[in-house]
Amino acid sequence: MSIRILTVDDREGIRAFIKDVLESDGYGVDVATDGKDALLQLTKAEYSLMITDLRMPRMDGMALLKESRTRYPNMPVIVLTAHGTIHNAVDAMKMGAVDYLTKPLESPAVLRDIVRSHLPNPGLTAAAARVDKDALVATSKSMVSVLAMLDKVAPTDATVLLTGQSGTGKEVAAARIHAKSNRAGQPFVAVNCAAISPSLMESEMFGHERGAFTGATEQKPGRFELAHNGTLFLDEVGELPLEMQAKLLRVLQEQKFERVGGNASIEVNVRIVAATNRDLQQEIANGAFREDLYHRVSVFPVHLPPLKDRKEDILPLTRHFLVGISKKQNRLLTLTRDAENALLSHHWPGNIRELSNTIERAAILCTPPRIDAADLVFATQTKSSAPSAHGGTEAVSLKDMEKEAILNALKDTDGHRKNAARKLGISLRSLYNKLKEYGID
Ligand SMILES: Nc1ncnc2c1ncn2[C@@H]1O[C@H](COP(=O)(O)OP(=O)(O)OP(=O)(O)O)[C@@H](O)[C@H]1O
Ligand SMILES: [Mg+2]
Repeated sequence: MSIRILTVDDREGIRAFIKDVLESDGYGVDVATDGKDALLQLTKAEYSLMITDLRMPRMDGMALLKESRTRYPNMPVIVLTAHGTIHNAVDAMKMGAVDYLTKPLESPAVLRDIVRSHLPNPGLTAAAARVDKDALVATSKSMVSVLAMLDKVAPTDATVLLTGQSGTGKEVAAARIHAKSNRAGQPFVAVNCAAISPSLMESEMFGHERGAFTGATEQKPGRFELAHNGTLFLDEVGELPLEMQAKLLRVLQEQKFERVGGNASIEVNVRIVAATNRDLQQEIANGAFREDLYHRVSVFPVHLPPLKDRKEDILPLTRHFLVGISKKQNRLLTLTRDAENALLSHHWPGNIRELSNTIERAAILCTPPRIDAADLVFATQTKSSAPSAHGGTEAVSLKDMEKEAILNALKDTDGHRKNAARKLGISLRSLYNKLKEYGID
């Protein structure tokens, strides 16, 4: 089916620009001049997406959005906003608009990217693609195929093993598998195998009877029991002590276990999703992971690629985080071209988590509504960037980041310390203290 897009604006120039750009990308584009006109148009054809201005005669964009959310809840709506109507754009997103474009429209490339990121991914059903928009961004080819795999395996009961470096989205992938499974209404229970001390592990997993050990004053169900009929997410499964691995293997084979201190056998029906950032084959070779358990959990392996190998996701992810921040802070933030380039050339050893943190910091440091390259304080240095005080690719300390933020603030305010302190959200006095501490004149 070909993709049809409806563009609503009272200004001829804007309608023509959007129509030209999107038609040259092969979409079918219809236009409407105001909300009333658009509602009529929406009854005549099926649209995959609507782009609407907010201020229009007869029926404005907000009223159109409200009406279309009720009548066509699956159709994503992008709003057009001028600088003066920024609060309206935020309100529109709270009412269900998926994104915004700022006027004057910057470039065909921006329009294209945003439209594409809200159209259903090829290979996914429209309904499936809609759910993603809230949680999982996938623009690059490799992530689109990861998403397709997650959605294929979700409705089965197969055990899934998610692998990938730290911060690549293993937990969001696990949540999605559950959300797209027949168990969606049932519990999703996560266990971080690295965070539970070995002595408590067994009772955490399988529960205990009253009096099973000192301090066990009540009977307590374990995570397996809590996840009955739902999904159990075994995060950092590579960190499990060998002894626990043996116990886990038995439960996976038999789907039953006993609580600590009890002998009644408890049967559960759980779907297992496991995750690790370790190379389990290597762990097996080292004798740290049981091969039989590996075969049990890796029935359906899914690998989440590092962010540096899927650069097409960087800007869509950034936008996703900015939209979230904009909703919370009631202001829209956009990136300068320099900032975009800086994000694209960073090598992201901390993956999406690092990106999300970088954007969150930039939103605090920037002068709204623009985020500039200077507002991007990377926790790690980009290989290609000029050598700096802390060079290399090692993670830098919080202190270094603070120092960098201070230097940037001073640069942006032309050395005006009072303004720099305000920008940093600290008192002038603490700025002086910090300058002294870091030996900045
Ligand atoms: N595709 C995505 N779309 C939107 N947000 C994402 C995506 N992937 C990851 N994130 C976000 O990035 C952050 C890190 O993701 P997540 O916690 O799932 O990583 P992880 O692989 O489990 O990392 P770790 O191994 O360190 O536990 C989270 O805030 C998550 O919401
Ligand atoms: Mg995780």
